[in-house]
Amino acid sequence: MSLEKARLFSDVLRGDPGARILWSRPGVDRHRQYEKVRARGALATSRRGLLFTASHALCHQVLTSGDFGPAPIGASARRRNATGDTTRVHPVDDSFLKLEPPRHTELRSLVAPTFHRRELTDLGPRIEKIVGNCLNELPHGQVTDLITNYAEAVPMAMISEILGLPSTEAPRFAAWGNLLASLLDGARTAQERERSRALVTEMTAYFKDRLNHVDPQSAGLIAGLAQQCPAQLNLREAIATCGMLLVGGFGTTTHLLGNTLYTLLRQPDLRPADGDYTAVIEESLRYDTPVQYVVRVAKADTRLAGRAVTAGTPVVLLLAAANRDPEIFTDPHVFDPGRREPHRHLTFGAGIHFCIGAALARAEAVTAVQSFFERYPNAQISGKAGLLQSRALHGLRRLPVVLGT
Ligand code: HEM
Repeated sequence: MSLEKARLFSDVLRGDPGARILWSRPGVDRHRQYEKVRARGALATSRRGLLFTASHALCHQVLTSGDFGPAPIGASARRRNATGDTTRVHPVDDSFLKLEPPRHTELRSLVAPTFHRRELTDLGPRIEKIVGNCLNELPHGQVTDLITNYAEAVPMAMISEILGLPSTEAPRFAAWGNLLASLLDGARTAQERERSRALVTEMTAYFKDRLNHVDPQSAGLIAGLAQQCPAQLNLREAIATCGMLLVGGFGTTTHLLGNTLYTLLRQPDLRPADGDYTAVIEESLRYDTPVQYVVRVAKADTRLAGRAVTAGTPVVLLLAAANRDPEIFTDPHVFDPGRREPHRHLTFGAGIHFCIGAALARAEAVTAVQSFFERYPNAQISGKAGLLQSRALHGLRRLPVVLGT
């Protein structure tokens, strides 16, 4: 055990709620840990200098406050940015997710229109086509893994099409998409670190080649970004934007689909009689929050929940816990698609970094889940579901199912 791990473990033994969350393994009831944070008040201090909050009001306040910003990137990423190095561009750390205005606003506005509702209305038939194709590919009468073959396949095909990437390269994209968990969690071993570095380097080379050689008249966001490069954004920024959209668009929506299908396969009575899955998806977003937490850092000395917070202090915003805050949600630990406050969850964040793909994820999920149960109302789970090995993400990596008729 490394010294760092040993320290963390000793904090766990001392009952430090933050350490327990960072130490926790998939399979444990994370909400038990989150409730311990909540029990300590709006803001819990960890021995490791981090602040944690399970409060909906406080998460929202920090996300929308100018006093806090995304956690700063490391020295090596800053160096690569300064030199314009395009051999390794990190899809999260080097993307606009980590930037402050005005650069954040400028880069976000280059891609945001693609995800506006009007565009998505046009995308509706495309989503239906992709979902139909993925359903046709599922094997009848034998056990199939619903995560790989459906929950991953649908968002992967969708984001590939939006970017203008060939669907034949889906297996390679799947490996990159699955990278999101290790990027958000941080590598735990030298082997994991090496693997993420290799995948990031491979993804960088791929997008660099695409941006340099794409036909400017072709459909898709990559052609649009290539046209705007270098006047509006440099090559590094363009590569990072592509990477962020790919891993962000795929690695999260997969878990929304997987988690919802798993719930509805175990509890068929939750499937809506009128066939409209909108409320079920909204409740799944709240109850089974795919991105469990995000981190913000105090930009200067400030105050939070009546307490002094020094510049540079990280605050872990437990979105999954905020989504079960009894101050906002009645019977928060109950999956209830009929609840009165369905849209108040913080699953897509809030403020200037609010998820750009929220409407797309919702549209994909409603169509994919509804169409699945229309086609396979008798589908049955036929083996143990495998939990995703991640702290920051909540989802499944395996869900064996027999489709039936
Ligand atoms: C269920 C699916 C999804 C979930 C739960 C989710 C969650 C989130 C969250 C929590 C944030 C805010 C992060 C922060 O404040 O630090 C975020 C930002 C973002 N998401 Fe999503 N996301 C989903 C789907 C998508 C899709 C489909 C796309 C792209 C097509 C996407 C692209 C982005 C981007 C680009 C940002 C950064 C926005 C900015 O910094 O201005 N996400 N997402």
